Amino acid sequence: MKKTALLVCLALCATASARPLEAIRSAGTIKIATEGAFPPFNYYEGKKLTGFEVELGNALAKELGLKVEWVTQPFDNLLIGLGQNRFDFVIASHGVTEERAKAVNFTNPHYCTGGVIVSKKGGPKTAAALRGKTVAVQVGTSYLENVRKVAGTKEVKTFPKDTDALQNLLAGRSDAWVSDKFVAIDAIKANTRVGLQQGDMLFQEKIAMAVAKGNTSLQGALNDALKKVQANGTYAKISKKYFDQDIRCK
Ligand code: ARG
Repeated sequence: MKKTALLVCLALCATASARPLEAIRSAGTIKIATEGAFPPFNYYEGKKLTGFEVELGNALAKELGLKVEWVTQPFDNLLIGLGQNRFDFVIASHGVTEERAKAVNFTNPHYCTGGVIVSKKGGPKTAAALRGKTVAVQVGTSYLENVRKVAGTKEVKTFPKDTDALQNLLAGRSDAWVSDKFVAIDAIKANTRVGLQQGDMLFQEKIAMAVAKGNTSLQGALNDALKKVQANGTYAKISKKYFDQDIRCK
């Protein structure tokens, strides 16, 4: 009896308790989760949560006629929290991967990008040059997954936050840092004294929002809202503000 209940719950509980669009609409407020430590996508400016994805999330909620409650969690907890229905969706620069798609439903991508190698002048700029080198990356990311595929690295160091991985490179404790190409552009600009350089792109990825597995009503609503803000100039305006260009997938 108990066993049956557990099996039924394993199959249904996650989707049964995720709030479908209707439930969110009647509550009036949507709960959005992000990390808050991945500038310029999601970060704190003093006490204020901001960034491209925060402004985009707000614009999508507005399009849906909903108020927003933001929740910040360590990156590695975000998709787990989604599975536990702690929030309605996650917007935190998650690359769409097969592995993640087993646990969540992804929306259409909200931008396209890639993971790049960053080092100090004279440091490694290509995958081949990472041979024998120490590389810093954020844990739970596609950067880690892809750096692991590079043959011959001496050590891959992981950090809870991407900004800590960058600090490790700046402090001279790693030879390279692998992160998002747009994050890298900002980090290079912010650390001109150190003299960082952007090397090759290791891999490309599509970045999307995640809803709980099976929450297709919310997934559809987010896709529609994204289409609208991409058509009415709102997306372009936010993108220009942070990147000086439109970063939507072409
Ligand atoms: N794009 C990478 C991935 O899919 C890293 C995302 C990191 N996001 C963050 N909020 N720190 O794993």
